[in-house]
Amino acid sequence: MSLQVTFLGAGRMASAIVDGLLSRGAATPAQLACLGGAGPSADTLAARTGIRLATDLEDLLRNADLVVVAFKPQHLARADPRLAELTRGKLVLSVLAAKTLARLGKTFPHARNIVRTMPNTPAAIGAGITGWCAARALSADDRATVTALLGAIGREIELPEEQLDALMAVSGCGPAFVFEFTAALREAGIAAGLSREAAALLSLETVLGAAKLMAATGAEPEDLRNQVTSPNGTTYAGLQVMAARDFRGMLRDTALATKARSAELSAQD
Ligand SMILES: NC(=O)c1ccc[n+]([C@@H]2O[C@H](COP(=O)([O-])OP(=O)(O)OC[C@H]3O[C@@H](n4cnc5c(N)ncnc54)[C@H](OP(=O)(O)O)[C@@H]3O)[C@@H](O)[C@H]2O)c1
Repeated sequence: MSLQVTFLGAGRMASAIVDGLLSRGAATPAQLACLGGAGPSADTLAARTGIRLATDLEDLLRNADLVVVAFKPQHLARADPRLAELTRGKLVLSVLAAKTLARLGKTFPHARNIVRTMPNTPAAIGAGITGWCAARALSADDRATVTALLGAIGREIELPEEQLDALMAVSGCGPAFVFEFTAALREAGIAAGLSREAAALLSLETVLGAAKLMAATGAEPEDLRNQVTSPNGTTYAGLQVMAARDFRGMLRDTALATKARSAELSAQD
């Protein structure tokens, strides 16, 4: 990217994007600047990465082309009203969970475009998947900027805004479901007679290895499952219990509850 990119909020998500941009060589420290709240996060990020620490909002936004909004969603309600003018003509990209394009438009009414994104926690190690949508059709240059920025923290997918609550149910909250699955597999291993240490190693490496195998082969998970399931064999015995307890129905209910809660939160101002 050849743009000036500024970060309003300099916590975990802003740091993940800055680290991703710098480590991929997609931006230089001179192109990036940040500003936080009353705490130390912006000083820490600037000192650690060499990006510029802005002195105030005017300083942050004066030469910015792209403004990444990365404070907490609850900060939006008390955002500085000068942001409306200071972001005039700029591209605004928000990572704020549950803040709709319509709501963002109230704070950034003169932006040339607004992009709402929903990253997930593996973004911290560049292995995230981010869903996003834009308020208006993106110019080719702005689209390239958005995909380059989100590409710094993993993969990205453009979706209609009305599908972002469903995305929350799969990728936004999905890492927590995978963590819970992994912990449950560890506990199951302990119940089956393993030490906690062995069960923890086996469950983690199994989730990691299976995910890598899916990604490397591109095969449907059902096909990979069938390849290791001989009739009346060991995997078959286990899968019979998963089916009898309606594992898929339980996950569907999990996703629908997540989606419903996300829709409730998105409806709040
Ligand atoms: N972490 C994730 O994996 C993840 C995933 C998806 C979406 N998100 C979204 O990312 C956003 C940030 O989350 P986070 O985990 O990075 O939070 P965080 O680590 O707590 O960082 C929040 C940042 O906001 C700053 N801030 C506080 N008040 C501010 C103000 N009035 N103006 C400007 N900045 C202000 C804080 O600065 P001080 O330190 O100075 O107070 C800090 O730099 C949230 O909206 C969240 O929905 C995060």
